[in-house]
Amino acid sequence: MERTFVMIKPDGVKRGLIGTILQRYEQKGLRIIQARLMKVSRVLAEKHYQEHRSKPFFPELIDYITSGPVFAMVLEGNKAVSTVRLLNGATKVEDALPGTIRGDFAISTTENLVHGSDSAESAEREISLWFPDAFTSSSSASDCL
Ligand code: PPS
Repeated sequence: MERTFVMIKPDGVKRGLIGTILQRYEQKGLRIIQARLMKVSRVLAEKHYQEHRSKPFFPELIDYITSGPVFAMVLEGNKAVSTVRLLNGATKVEDALPGTIRGDFAISTTENLVHGSDSAESAEREISLWFPDAFTSSSSASDCL
């Protein structure tokens, strides 16, 4: 079992796609371990995207992520990190295939609906950033139900 951090970005929340997107993860056998609808501070957004700090799109990305509520969550399942990335689809909107969340619903590369950790190491860092009080990976999911 593996855990990953997933975020439905402001465009997904604004467009009423939370239920549709969650259904895709759940239908694939991933379990929601933690979830929170929240407004993101600039400090949190900049920490989350710190590896992209020098990229030209960074200011636009931070403005966008802080523009409205996001639905942040921890998902658990078999190969959760790579499974979520497959379900999400390619980052660039023009490369996202039909059948993926972005391929079916995303409007642009910035407004691309969802984020999923890109590795187990990123997942660990992002889960502790977004859910600092979450139980550790050695705890059972039922501990928090
Ligand atoms: S890159 O360019 O290879 O480092 O991109 P990547 O690692 O796939 O993800 C970059 C994150 O920034 C968001 N974003 C953009 N990426 C590329 N170009 C533009 N213009 C852009 N605007 C925003 C992109 O959606 C990735 O966010 P996450 O949340 O990680 O999917």
